[in-house]
Amino acid sequence: MSSRTSPVTESPNQPSLEEQVETLKRRLAEAQKFTALGELMSSTTHEFNNVLTSIINYAQMGMRHQDEATRNRCFEKIMAAGNRAAKITTGVLGMARNRSDRREPTDLAPLVQDAVMLLEREMQKYRVELDVQIETTAPALAIGNQIQQVLLNLMINARQAMPKGGRLVVRLSQDEEGGVCLMVRDSGSGIPADQLPRIFDPFFSTKSGPDESGKGGTGLGLATCRDIIEAHAGKIRVQSTVGVGTAFTIRLPAANPVVPPSVMKSAVDVAPTAAQQS
Ligand SMILES: Nc1ncnc2c1ncn2[C@@H]1O[C@H](COP(=O)(O)OP(=O)(O)OP(=O)(O)O)[C@@H](O)[C@H]1O
Ligand SMILES: [Mg+2]
Repeated sequence: MSSRTSPVTESPNQPSLEEQVETLKRRLAEAQKFTALGELMSSTTHEFNNVLTSIINYAQMGMRHQDEATRNRCFEKIMAAGNRAAKITTGVLGMARNRSDRREPTDLAPLVQDAVMLLEREMQKYRVELDVQIETTAPALAIGNQIQQVLLNLMINARQAMPKGGRLVVRLSQDEEGGVCLMVRDSGSGIPADQLPRIFDPFFSTKSGPDESGKGGTGLGLATCRDIIEAHAGKIRVQSTVGVGTAFTIRLPAANPVVPPSVMKSAVDVAPTAAQQS
């Protein structure tokens, strides 16, 4: 039997390699969107359930105790839980409304607050102290829901890098050129220098699988972040030191630039240097 090897040529009916890569990238982005949405749904449902449990428990307590002081305390707790439930649904509705697929002037501050609100209980559970610094409300030229997806990915990675707790800083600021910067910095394990150049590669993961909260392990989180930021003509930068922590900084073009944006060489900048602690 003779064996024939087929030459590696592109037939006119077959998509080119570039086209195939583009199609796969699009599918990857879709898949990650659903993963992020799924994580969001499970965090939100879990949060809402916690709030309902508080309301039910305090209502029962108020019914059992006739004295005014206890009843007043129960009403206060029920009121606080009710307000929190309203905040959760407002946050989710905000995200659902924010489904535009076009880059438009977007104030990232409410988006940061929604993401923080959704993850704050999870952070508490893992003894992660959250420090949110909103220094600007200047609009970025962005697709809000995609930037929120990036932020959730970075915050979940940060939390997973601090299994024994730590500090997570989320800072929204503006640079001299008017660009909008979003920084997520943790005091976690840090990333070894030899792994640093690979963390944005699709499927690169050092996690053995999803953790007990069902998150992590596919290695698509940062690849998606990079694709999203590239599509925004932005930049994502990482600084990390083993044993000290990791800082990811995203820079997005301003909706109203102070000076015209300079030409970006690459969307990714990787630096194994100290994640400055401030
Ligand atoms: N803040 C961080 N601190 C330490 N290591 C990190 C941090 N962020 C990312 N990494 C490293 O980069 C790898 C890739 O991250 P990425 O988010 O792409 O995938 P993942 O978290 O493993 O899985 P998933 O696709 O479910 O997010 C991680 O497995 C981890 O080794
Ligand atoms: Mg991840």
